[in-house]
Amino acid sequence: MGRSDAAGLDEPTVSQTSTVSRTDRTREHLIGTYRKKAGHYDFTSRLYPVPGYPQRAQRLRTVAALGLRPGDTVIDLACGTGLNFPLLQQAVGPGGRIVGVDLTDAMLARAQDRIKANGWSNVSLVQADAAGFDFPAGAGAILSTYALTQVPECAEVTAHGAAALAAGGRWAVLDLKVPGQTPGWLAQLGTATVRPFAAIDEWLTRRPWEAIRTAMQAELADFCWTELFFGTAFLATGSRPSGHRQ
Ligand SMILES: C[S@@+](CC[C@H](N)C(=O)[O-])C[C@H]1O[C@@H](n2cnc3c(N)ncnc32)[C@H](O)[C@@H]1O
Repeated sequence: MGRSDAAGLDEPTVSQTSTVSRTDRTREHLIGTYRKKAGHYDFTSRLYPVPGYPQRAQRLRTVAALGLRPGDTVIDLACGTGLNFPLLQQAVGPGGRIVGVDLTDAMLARAQDRIKANGWSNVSLVQADAAGFDFPAGAGAILSTYALTQVPECAEVTAHGAAALAAGGRWAVLDLKVPGQTPGWLAQLGTATVRPFAAIDEWLTRRPWEAIRTAMQAELADFCWTELFFGTAFLATGSRPSGHRQ
């Protein structure tokens, strides 16, 4: 499987040099789903996963957990339309860098619109599968919101990201999960209503939040796991131990 680079850091354009790997049927279906969602994603995501869910507050909390400073470089993995970008911009300032990575061209096109509308010159977009993304070495921080559990190789991606971080760099994952003690039929019913992507049965069986938790615990220091919104979401954070120098 080929890997794609976060090339063109100075260019606020979508890098087309990266090949989208693993375009198996699941990936193709996922891309098709997000192509349909892209145009209205910013609006409908306000109701995601359910109306009343404090999504913006969770995003703020996630960005705050990264402890970003002006001038830092941050990677937003599976960035979608770039809803985190304004918060990241506030944290890293014009001297910092944001690299947005996503599999779906149409979501990146919306992100590109956001970049243009705001006149940001410090944001790069890379079209890539997270599973094949070659994290630039020495990144100050990585985050992924409402996306990483959709990646079958989420544990490997977590580990690759951790290995690429600068010493002390932070990783934060915000995503949905099934609350503990939930009967299978109830989980199925609940998630069917939000159905974030096609392979929901596979998601329920795979329990990707557990794989992410295990990988972060293994790879990072200061690991912290917080259950949110009655256990239906989580924020996982950690930092690369300072003993690891690039
Ligand atoms: C629910 S949206 C979340 C977008 C954004 N992170 C947010 O918080 O609004 C999920 C995003 O994950 C992307 N995605 C899913 N699987 C991916 C993969 N394997 N590699 C990269 N992006 C992926 C989709 O294209 C979509 O843009």
